Amino acid sequence: MPIIEWTEEFSIGNPTLDDQHKKWFSIYNKAHDRMMDPDEKNFISTGIDSLKEMKAYGEYHFSTEEETMAAAGFPELEKHKLMHRAFSRDIDGMIQGLESGNHVLNSEVIKRIENWLRHHILKEDLKFKTFSEQKGRG
Ligand SMILES: [Fe+2]
Repeated sequence: MPIIEWTEEFSIGNPTLDDQHKKWFSIYNKAHDRMMDPDEKNFISTGIDSLKEMKAYGEYHFSTEEETMAAAGFPELEKHKLMHRAFSRDIDGMIQGLESGNHVLNSEVIKRIENWLRHHILKEDLKFKTFSEQKGRG
């Protein structure tokens, strides 16, 4: 399962948001390495810690991104916010799963987060780039 490398295709044309996405990828990559470490003995607490870190940085980033979108008048903001909230809820569900012993495999958790990050940035955040470019051309 690969880590996520930030490349230009992920750029949404806003340096602050791009930097936050890079930082988020590095947090994800660290979580990936910890959760997939076959020598890890405390894989449940490692999983919980990693998920909490992903969620905390995600929420910090969402607030910056939502403020930026609001300031620019992005028409899909409300829909976009719902996707952010869904991500946080999904992470909460995974944390609860780990805490209650009903956990899915770390590899599945990590795959789900990876898919979400890639899809969300490439499909949803990039709509904001398109919007900003069109607005710039006036
Ligand atoms: Fe977003």
